[in-house]
Amino acid sequence: MGKYLIIGPSSQLLGMRIAKLLNIETITTETKKFPDGENYLRLNIDDESIIEGNDIIIIQTTGASTKENQNARIMELFMMISAAKRMNPQNLTVVVPYLAYGRQDKIFRPGETRFASVIVKMIDSLGIDKFYTVDIHAPDILNDFSIPAKNLDPMTEIANYVKVLNLNNAIVIAPDKGGVARSEQFAAHLGENIPVKLFSKERDVRTGEIEMYADIDLSGHDVIISDDIIATGGTMANAIKISKKCGANKILAVGTHALLLENAAYRILNAGADEIIGTDSIDTPVSKVSLAKLIAKQLE
Ligand code: R5P
Repeated sequence: MGKYLIIGPSSQLLGMRIAKLLNIETITTETKKFPDGENYLRLNIDDESIIEGNDIIIIQTTGASTKENQNARIMELFMMISAAKRMNPQNLTVVVPYLAYGRQDKIFRPGETRFASVIVKMIDSLGIDKFYTVDIHAPDILNDFSIPAKNLDPMTEIANYVKVLNLNNAIVIAPDKGGVARSEQFAAHLGENIPVKLFSKERDVRTGEIEMYADIDLSGHDVIISDDIIATGGTMANAIKISKKCGANKILAVGTHALLLENAAYRILNAGADEIIGTDSIDTPVSKVSLAKLIAKQLE
């Protein structure tokens, strides 16, 4: 049985890194937009029989970027899956490093939809065999798949990058309650007895405004603020300002999925961060940590 990796338009760097590690053939896609805005995608192949009976992996991240919004990325993902599925692969594995809508995992206000679950069920309905994502906002959403679905933990990879920066008296900050388990994992990989501190964060569910509070002494410490997503940069900028007020020295802003929307990078650096660190789940200038080994290991 042959093995092919179909690399979606939003995961080209990470896809090629994984293909090299696995030493497998790749298939690219051809995309365009119709005049009415609809997406078009075809797998870049001349002979459909290369998919039939084979082990097929699709990778496509679904974060918004300057090139495309997340809705288009999701449509492209659906098109890739449905095209491959029509050609009868033996196994169809789908890797979505960043799953868009993952933060809509709860009902906050009357009249809302738990849309993360809808996205999962839509992917599931296309008939895939296995699903992988990375550091998903609410892992329990994956229980809505009917097939094996796994959330990969990138904390070792991110910690390995941070370790060589030789921080002094490092402290890891979780900018909200939801990030505590992640930050504890990260601190454990970073070294022995690295403390984790929690900042308290409240977000107004109507306006999205954030209020953050902490009363700890960070003087003499380098601080790593660790989060799953950096979107507008509001959470990070607040946490950085508070860390500075509490006396922190060096400040690193670390996010697995650094979407860095609009002026997020400016907000974070202007608040006083020394460095922004993200992974190649989203392809940006701060994608300093590669998820290729982590993902390739699962696909071997
Ligand atoms: C929220 O619960 C997440 O863990 C992140 O803190 C949040 O998504 C970051 O978004 P932003 O950068 O817009 O503050």
